[in-house]
Amino acid sequence: MNRWLKLQICLLVGAFMVLHGSTLNKALNGLKEDPYGFALIDVGITEEDLANFRCIDIQGERFYHQFGELEKVQEEITDFFIEVGSNQHAVALQAGARLAQIVNEVVEASGKEAAWVHLRASIPTDRYDLPRWHMDGYYYIPEGPEDLLFKFAATLMGPPTLFYLLPPELRKLAKTQMCNREYMKQFCQVENIVTPRIGEGAIFLGGRGVGVAALHSEPPIHENRLFFSIVPCTKKQLVDLKERVLAVYPKDSRR
Ligand SMILES: [Fe+2]
Repeated sequence: MNRWLKLQICLLVGAFMVLHGSTLNKALNGLKEDPYGFALIDVGITEEDLANFRCIDIQGERFYHQFGELEKVQEEITDFFIEVGSNQHAVALQAGARLAQIVNEVVEASGKEAAWVHLRASIPTDRYDLPRWHMDGYYYIPEGPEDLLFKFAATLMGPPTLFYLLPPELRKLAKTQMCNREYMKQFCQVENIVTPRIGEGAIFLGGRGVGVAALHSEPPIHENRLFFSIVPCTKKQLVDLKERVLAVYPKDSRR
């Protein structure tokens, strides 16, 4: 490839990343005022990316966590895909590179320097046939009222996460009934359920104690599923975040 063409491609890729950075920044700003606590965003996952994710074989439920060592994400995610099923190295490599790129974009847009990066590979289960409507608690203790407690999430394969347009006047009731799955199934009206597209990003607020945390649930999972999430934080908040995450996830999912 000649140097001029290489330069043009680099400029195009650069412009593309800046565009997504600004989309993310805009969405994060909007989230502060959003009555439902979530927004859907395009992070540039293409049809080609999705076709590559669809090639990933999953032989059992597996989790990946990385806390803060973001320079390891690309290699570790590639290894995760190789270990999770019978997968070609090239497929795993492409998926690892793409997700590492998204981690960088989300962390940069957040203005923070660290993050918890999570991947969940699932096989069919009846665990969520009755949805688990909930609001995430604190990922870590925020550094002040402007410190946005948010998670980025995208479903890369299989059924996407469900979000709910919760009317502000029903927020209190939803919080008190969240543990009652039967009640919440009746409570959540189908027309208010928002389902992102596969590969579409969602940013949503946690910290149900005070903030406008988003009401959401895993979908019914009747086919293989690949879920990806990022919670940016400062290096100082990382210890707290790690403790909270590892208190919830099964021991065999820890890395
Ligand atoms: Fe959640």
